[in-house]
Amino acid sequence: MKVYKFEEIDSTNKFLREKEDVSEKDLVIAKVQTNGRGRRGNKWVSTEGAALFSFVLKHDMEIPEDEYMKLPLLVGYSLLYTLKKIEDLDFKFKWTNDLFLDDKKISGILVEKIKDNYIIGIGLNVNNENLEEAKNIAISLKEKTGKKYDLDKVIMSIVEDFFINFKAFKSGEWKEILEKINKVNYLYGKRINIVSFDKEESGIAGDILENGMLEVFVGNEIKAYNIGTIHISKK
Ligand code: BTN
Repeated sequence: MKVYKFEEIDSTNKFLREKEDVSEKDLVIAKVQTNGRGRRGNKWVSTEGAALFSFVLKHDMEIPEDEYMKLPLLVGYSLLYTLKKIEDLDFKFKWTNDLFLDDKKISGILVEKIKDNYIIGIGLNVNNENLEEAKNIAISLKEKTGKKYDLDKVIMSIVEDFFINFKAFKSGEWKEILEKINKVNYLYGKRINIVSFDKEESGIAGDILENGMLEVFVGNEIKAYNIGTIHISKK
């Protein structure tokens, strides 16, 4: 495991994507990102004090490719599990891979595949205090508790716990993990709009299913969604 630390970098995910020789658990940590990447090509902007890091998970040939569809959920679950150990707060998992606290986003996760490597990138609001612009949609641990956290320690625990949880996943514990994810399913019971390709539908979100899809009650039908953009409708 190599650890690369930067005061400033464009994107920790990009660094690992472009690096030729990476090994499992290689970790990149940055204080500041100038071009942080979010999902669906969005930019990820964060103020100083956030935990910004990416690490490598090697594709395990013993695990069928399809199973990796669940990886973003597993990362989210594992992150929530580590955060709960740090502060026992009411963190929620928002399908497909965000964490929420008090109805505000505390973390975003970006999983990318490059050759046989999964690059797991996490942006977690920890010590950030300058969230004014985003104060209605974002929150940090420090804002909630008033405490300051050791970023390196937080990051190391998240990475260590992920590999422990991945081992459990590999040894067949998905059902148990999914049960726990569904207990903290942020979207459950909420009216959401599902934008998938050019189509937009509205429904009530249900459970996350065994295959990682989200169950949605649309009119009299029960549907399951895998890809697409999920928005919670404004009330
Ligand atoms: C999202 O919510 O859209 C996902 C955001 C992921 C941001 C993290 S910050 C560390 C890593 N490096 C990046 O460029 N992106 C991820």
